[in-house]
Amino acid sequence: MRIDIITVVPDLLRSPFEASILKRAIEKGLVEIHLHNLRDYVTDNYKQIDDYQFGGGAGMVMMVEPIDKCITKLKSERDYDEVIYMTPDGERLEQKTANQLSLQKNLIILCGHYKGVDQRVRDHFITREISIGDYVLSGGELGAAVLCDAVIRLIPGVLGNETSALTDSFQDDLLAPPVYTRPAEYKGWKVPEILISGNFPKIEQWREEQAWERTKKLRPDLLDESEK
Ligand code: ADE
Repeated sequence: MRIDIITVVPDLLRSPFEASILKRAIEKGLVEIHLHNLRDYVTDNYKQIDDYQFGGGAGMVMMVEPIDKCITKLKSERDYDEVIYMTPDGERLEQKTANQLSLQKNLIILCGHYKGVDQRVRDHFITREISIGDYVLSGGELGAAVLCDAVIRLIPGVLGNETSALTDSFQDDLLAPPVYTRPAEYKGWKVPEILISGNFPKIEQWREEQAWERTKKLRPDLLDESEK
């Protein structure tokens, strides 16, 4: 997979890809991340990428031209499956969004700033608008990093244990069951007996029950009415 990220603050998008799982995914050649500084696509001497809103009002708007130049150049080089705009008024990022995007080959992610981008960018280039939650960030960069992490870890070969992404919370609309590791007893706090029983069908059944219990208690909104 290749992800091209268009931003006015590329520095915000370096460290997420320089450590741990995302770094390894890049090193293994499973994903390529290309950062594009929007200012490199501005022709005037002031490197202006934003301007006042037509109609008045506080806050600057990102201009069409540099974004057009950048996206048009990228699209002339390869086909893209989606051109994503990170924005608080987009569809909410969910596990199913990450699942879908992890199957794509080439993605562009545009990070908004200030009041956002000129609507004509959204009308003419953007195929999908994504929000990482109902709160406003200073820009789309941190949202883009969250989206990339959620997507990249699903690419086959990225996680060491191929099955582990399948047992994450939300993968089947349930929260994950509790997990434990050694020691089996610490300060008198014991690991549930069943997990050290070696009875794997029973362990599986216990995990399922725990997942249901947790979901009912913590996130009943994930369950259908009939399941509550
Ligand atoms: N840009 C600003 N706020 C955002 C959010 N909540 N999600 C994605 N991009 C954003």
